Amino acid sequence: MFIVLLNKDKILRLTSDSSLTFDLHIFNKIDSTNNFLLNNFQSLQLDNNSIPVVAAEIQTKGRGRIGRSWHSELGSGLTFSLLWFFKKGTAELAGLSLTIGVAIIRVLRSFFINQVQLKWPNDLLHNNCKLCGILVELRGKANGPTHAVIGIGVNFNLSSSLKSIIQQDVTDLYQITGKHHDRNVFLSALLLELCNILSDFQAHGFAYFRDEWISYHAYQDKIVKLTLPNNTSVIGRVDGINADGSLCLLTSTGYHSFSVGDISMRLID
Ligand code: BTN
Repeated sequence: MFIVLLNKDKILRLTSDSSLTFDLHIFNKIDSTNNFLLNNFQSLQLDNNSIPVVAAEIQTKGRGRIGRSWHSELGSGLTFSLLWFFKKGTAELAGLSLTIGVAIIRVLRSFFINQVQLKWPNDLLHNNCKLCGILVELRGKANGPTHAVIGIGVNFNLSSSLKSIIQQDVTDLYQITGKHHDRNVFLSALLLELCNILSDFQAHGFAYFRDEWISYHAYQDKIVKLTLPNNTSVIGRVDGINADGSLCLLTSTGYHSFSVGDISMRLID
């Protein structure tokens, strides 16, 4: 395994055991690592063996799903994005963001951090507090090809002042394990697992990960309330995930599926 070093404005070229190469751009400060790749993907070299990755110590405009912000500060976590090229069209990539969650859970488990679960579509929670967020942004045509910018934020050690400005219950790896974790080691392991999982996703789609995903779902069989983009809400019991990554909910009017999109979900006690 390779080791990467954060804290310098520079580009590293790293080669994994499977001969895939990561072109790692490291910034001390940037608006958003997703923005960088979205703005530059056409000029970045892309071939099957070279994957652009951008990591930043500080993001001044870190973004989350549904127009939310992703807050971080010096040393509080890992914030990075990678660019992956798919021959498939955007329509076939609906389950991609869910699949990334599986990769992160696998890496956490490889470090014996076993109690973290997924929340549809792609948050990682510990005791209902958010540890990690994923923002996948696609550029391409319905029939392909597609560039996917995959952004990941993992909380390592949040200060109490940072926690107080985040408008949801959050946690970090230090709070969960009582230990300080090395972001370089974690990033290395995550990049390797992402490559494995993205190759399998490319070949087999989300259906290949569906059962594993459900086994990690914090809200499986739980009663939840969905808030839809038109601001209406739906209450029902979570009954798994479909092969395209949509959520299956048993409501008072029967089974309904909800596609990954601007939907938020919360537990009803
Ligand atoms: C969410 O929880 O809604 C998704 C959060 C994703 C945050 C990461 S941090 C790295 C990358 N750059 C961004 O601006 N956002 C993602």
